[in-house]
Amino acid sequence: MTPTTFHTPVMRDRVLEVLRPAPGEDFLDGTVGGGGHAEALLEQTAPDGRLIGLDVDDESLAEAGGRLAPFGARVRLVRANFADMKAASESAGIAVVDGVLLDLGGSSHQFDTPERGFSFREEGPLDMRQDRRLERTAADILAESSEEELTRIFRTYGEEPLAKRLAVTVVQERARQPITRTIQLADLVRRVKFGSHRSIHPATLVFQALRIAVNDELNQLRRGLEAAVKMCRPGGRIAVIAFHSLEDRIVKDFMRRMSSPCVCPPGLPVCRCGLRRQLRLVQRKAFRPTEAEVSANPRARSARLRAAEKIEE
Ligand SMILES: C[S@@+](CC[C@H](N)C(=O)[O-])C[C@H]1O[C@@H](n2cnc3c(N)ncnc32)[C@H](O)[C@@H]1O
Repeated sequence: MTPTTFHTPVMRDRVLEVLRPAPGEDFLDGTVGGGGHAEALLEQTAPDGRLIGLDVDDESLAEAGGRLAPFGARVRLVRANFADMKAASESAGIAVVDGVLLDLGGSSHQFDTPERGFSFREEGPLDMRQDRRLERTAADILAESSEEELTRIFRTYGEEPLAKRLAVTVVQERARQPITRTIQLADLVRRVKFGSHRSIHPATLVFQALRIAVNDELNQLRRGLEAAVKMCRPGGRIAVIAFHSLEDRIVKDFMRRMSSPCVCPPGLPVCRCGLRRQLRLVQRKAFRPTEAEVSANPRARSARLRAAEKIEE
């Protein structure tokens, strides 16, 4: 399948509402992708607000570079992981910003390009690296991990109920022939899960688990959130869009902990733990896309947006 559009930005208007970009403000987009959210932020911060756009994917940066070219020197694109946003933005000459956006996961372009190996519906190599400078692909993980390690990956990152049985099957199959192709893995999973109750494609959770493992997504997210708080000016805002419950739980727990960090036992007259609030939640619950957005862009279906404001120090 040839990709038609690179990526449609999810919950674009809501992102603008929670980040409140104003003329002259600077933003960091840690997942610039095709540049859709970045473009909206740059329009709102005209005439001189700046945007640092990070991405680990060379194709995304090329696309964003073209789309954002009309904004000239207001845009600085850097190939970097958002976990390293502080060093990356300092190298681009901007140390603090008025807001940070993380729109997690992959772009439509990545999922729709069979050679990237993200899709269990399209024949391709089991790659799944968002950053193609990384050494280990999904095929490497399947070839090199022990049965216990595979069970842990499928269980922890996929919440896959048949994790152990699938790991045993992978180990048996790879003794016969290497598992290197998307459809080969999808068929293997289908055989193990045959007859199990399902509302999603049987390979969904295994593919999710491998993608998280290949890209170390959950650890990068934890590091990115910590860095985002450090990079924001007091009064600045952080917005994160997550697409599955593991990511969303990390974002929710992080924002809650930073907005009410005191661990003193209830009833103490004064706080003794000394942990200070660093964030204020914009809204307790996650924002969800509207039905109209989901019907126009089904990939928005599982999106959950959470936002918080850095507290004045
Ligand atoms: C959902 S897309 C972002 C789409 C973008 N908001 C837009 O409007 O086009 C996610 C992007 O983040 C990138 N990405 C994923 N994890 C990353 C990380 N840890 N650091 C930097 N970029 C990352 C992916 O390569 C992908 O291009």
